[in-house]
Amino acid sequence: MPNPCNVVVLISGSGSNLQALLDSIPAGDNPARVCAVVSNRADAYGLERAKAAGIATRVLDHKAFDGREAFDAALIETLDAFEPQLVVLAGFMRILTPGFVRHYAGRLLNIHPSLLPKYKGLHTHQRALEAGDSEHGCSVHFVTEELDGGPLVVQAVIQVQSHDSPTSLAQRVHEQEHQIYPLAVRWFAEGRLRLDEQGAVLDGQPLPSTGHLIRT
Ligand code: GAR
Repeated sequence: MPNPCNVVVLISGSGSNLQALLDSIPAGDNPARVCAVVSNRADAYGLERAKAAGIATRVLDHKAFDGREAFDAALIETLDAFEPQLVVLAGFMRILTPGFVRHYAGRLLNIHPSLLPKYKGLHTHQRALEAGDSEHGCSVHFVTEELDGGPLVVQAVIQVQSHDSPTSLAQRVHEQEHQIYPLAVRWFAEGRLRLDEQGAVLDGQPLPSTGHLIRT
């Protein structure tokens, strides 16, 4: 088994992706180790999930800082105390400064509830429905300075049904998020996934611009 890979997870809310990640790790030979969960909100339910799993938690309230630069500098200090090889954004609803992104270049992953590059930002399910899309889904990508714009690692595609609402779409997309995020984290922890100048690389091969595509 490869060396353990220290992972710090950043959350702002429910933490269902954190839970999926935690559930994926004890089973056998996954080298990922979640060593801390950090939230910018004290009431994030994901903190309870972390505590239940015996994982260290930290809360860093962005409102207590004088601007993004100061918050991100404190965030870096908090994260680096855990010596992370990988930082995982799991519903962390803060825009990160270029300095933060550069500090974790190549070891910062995000999950987004759309088939990027479509629907960066918020309200992705509503926007997919309004556009009349027949397909929707979710994406895991390396984080770069462009918001929701970094090289894609894996996408899961679902079919939009005629009776879908934003809520029903969100639920099916969430189920897929819980499959693809643990997969991407595992690839990284195993040393199979990396970022180079060309983009995301899996098992020595450049990934396509969509990332690894999973159709459900
Ligand atoms: C997830 O749907 C994730 O894709 C989204 O927040 C939700 C967090 O859910 N992230 C973004 O929109 C980031 N732009 P969770 O707290 O239950 O994991």
